Amino acid sequence: MTVADYTEFLQEVLIDEERLQKRIAELGAEISRDYQGQDLLLICILRGGVLFLTDLMRHITVPHTIDFMDISSYGVGARETTGHVRINFDLRTDIYDRNVLLVEDIIDSGYTLKTVLEILATRRPRSLRICTLLDKAERRKVHIPIDYCGFVIPDKFVFGYGLDIDEYYRNLPFIAAVDTSRYTPPE
Ligand code: IMP
Ligand code: MG
Repeated sequence: MTVADYTEFLQEVLIDEERLQKRIAELGAEISRDYQGQDLLLICILRGGVLFLTDLMRHITVPHTIDFMDISSYGVGARETTGHVRINFDLRTDIYDRNVLLVEDIIDSGYTLKTVLEILATRRPRSLRICTLLDKAERRKVHIPIDYCGFVIPDKFVFGYGLDIDEYYRNLPFIAAVDTSRYTPPE
């Protein structure tokens, strides 16, 4: 299986590495101020949020722990979700009475996150907040109370910096938009 070189379907670099890193440092500082003197647990939903989590936590100065959850969301097509979520593997941490900050790569329709929030809320954390790197606000179908947001982006399919196109190119240090007319999925 081979995927095309991304330069063949790159429409544009939406957010370059410098802007990305500057904004992540700002978010880390804001989170550090807000949680001063409090216990904090960062939860990353695999896999898209991994790069964001690891960069963000380096800018968080309050003591915190991290945990991961792997979920699959089912949709009407490869690019659409409906909020039917299956937990592939769950947190190791008991979040009861913890201050939880969910660290997400992108919120699109919001269906996936809404379901995850409902699941986590039943475990009665002390607080539950959301930090997303990207917000595709125009596409939102259900309300999601976002506490920290890196960038609001237009309705384009993006990849890089944790986000994949057919599982590839999560390693790129920038956020790029796909030119769908020049993209063919790997065999
Ligand atoms: P939602 O349930 O529609 O909000 O979908 C959210 C999930 O879909 C994200 O956590 C991503 O994994 C994925 N997703 C949505 N938009 C994009 C995109 O432009 N590029 C890559 N993944 C995306
Ligand atoms: Mg995701």
